[in-house]
Amino acid sequence: MTGVNLDPAKNILTRIEMSEKQTNGKIKAAYLIPLLQDIQESYGYLPREVLEYVSNFSGIALSRIFGVITFYEQFYLEPQGKHTIKCCRGTACHVKNGQKISDTISEVLKVNEGETTDDGVFTFETVACLGTCFLAPVMMIDDEYFGNLTSNEISKIIKRYKEGGTR
Ligand code: FES
Repeated sequence: MTGVNLDPAKNILTRIEMSEKQTNGKIKAAYLIPLLQDIQESYGYLPREVLEYVSNFSGIALSRIFGVITFYEQFYLEPQGKHTIKCCRGTACHVKNGQKISDTISEVLKVNEGETTDDGVFTFETVACLGTCFLAPVMMIDDEYFGNLTSNEISKIIKRYKEGGTR
């Protein structure tokens, strides 16, 4: 049996059920993305047990739900760390030693891309472009950008976040 509390998901689904977002007793597929966003906001990620419940409740096939989740980078199937570090692997960053930045983050955190540290503080991701190529090489921690990075700076920046000096 599941260890995940389904109550928050039930509340979200009931709210939607009572709104105009459903037809013939089924939640309209068009509301799947906002529904998943609400669930992720509530749980911090999208637990599989909850998704199964959503599928049964809504009549939307589980495979379709997973299709949406894997298409959009905003959705997470695993619990995320308190802070998310996104390192750019795009071309502009790559030619400015971006791989070294990424390797250093991995070394400092002792996790691979896509993983969360054992203490739950950091999740490490790489992304195709952070949209700030003029800052290359660049990484983000939560919503803060760090540009023109050198690998020597990484551990100091991470330490600052770990100690809670910056959100
Ligand atoms: S390629 Fe790195 S920010 Fe665009």
